Amino acid sequence: MNNVGIVGLGHYLPKRRLTNLDLEKMVKTSDEWITTRTGIKERRIAEKGEKNSDMAVKAAREAIKNARLDPERLELIIVATISPDSSFPSLACLVQKAIHARKAAAFDVSAACSGFLYALTTAKQFIQTGLYKNALVIASEKITSYVDWNDRNTCILFGDGAGACVLAPVRKDRGILSEYLHAQGHFGDLMMVVAGEREPLDQKTKTILLPHIAMQGQELFRVAVHSMAEAVEIAVHKAGLKLSDIDCVVPHQANDRIITAVARQLEIPKDKIFVNIDKYGNMSAASIAVALYEAVKEKRIQKGDIVALVTFGAGLVSAANVVRW
Ligand code: UT7
Repeated sequence: MNNVGIVGLGHYLPKRRLTNLDLEKMVKTSDEWITTRTGIKERRIAEKGEKNSDMAVKAAREAIKNARLDPERLELIIVATISPDSSFPSLACLVQKAIHARKAAAFDVSAACSGFLYALTTAKQFIQTGLYKNALVIASEKITSYVDWNDRNTCILFGDGAGACVLAPVRKDRGILSEYLHAQGHFGDLMMVVAGEREPLDQKTKTILLPHIAMQGQELFRVAVHSMAEAVEIAVHKAGLKLSDIDCVVPHQANDRIITAVARQLEIPKDKIFVNIDKYGNMSAASIAVALYEAVKEKRIQKGDIVALVTFGAGLVSAANVVRW
């Protein structure tokens, strides 16, 4: 069996920024409330006409370049998303076409904010068994197209973006050491997409029937803390390590208070936890992929470090991976 590791990372963030001050003009909220309750200061929003696939392709190109891989030699593409351009063709097939990865198999994974780790673990199996030599895993979300911009409970939370990585066999002592995937379908109604009337962001005068996010924030918060802490503990145990061995935790960025509570529960110092929610809000599956990219870029993760990736999201689904970088 091959050891499988991340050999190239990429990301893409739309240029358009929506700050807390902008939101103050849209709903009854304040920069102070959003900052203290969530840690978010601003988020990125896809430009008018910018599709999810446009973002996914940009992140993919950077990851492939960093992995020094010829797209013609790419064997598998998995995209984690809950906001594809359309239900078909899949986002993975749109990426395959754009990057000319003619030999690659391609499909999407739907696991909300846990999508990146679900896709990572899925791709890992193909390389571990030797079926494929490499894989491109992308997490890309235009999640703000499901936001009700009149609902202050949810519209302050989300942003758009994409992250990507290339997986390939690595040395025996490196790579993805363990994985944990979990689902709690009985909590599905805590966060869902519902049909209803709302205004699109760029056409404030026009109310039309559009699907949008409905969420029971407080209850979700409680389940999230428990699920994420449990996922890290299980993945670390499966890797044959202790929590004190972790050098850096890269968590899903839903709320800085959730991240702090998970750190406290696991007794991991907050300076070992990577946080960038202030800049981007919750980008669903893309959050953890972009956070991993930035943690490596900022040298918060160094060669040989033990890294814990952990997430939870609508479904509810949670997941964790332990990686030796
Ligand atoms: O990836 C998974 C996605 N979602 C999550 O992880 C969300 C998890 N939940 C959370 O992050 C938090 O529950 C929220 C940030 C959504 C809300 O924070 P909270 O501390 O749980 O606030 P709350 O819902 O208990 O609301 C407290 C008060 C309420 O007013 P009253 O009823 O006490 O008068 C809300 O109406 O804050 C009010 N409120 C706001 N006030 C200003 C709710 N949203 C806002 C807002 N601005 N944007």
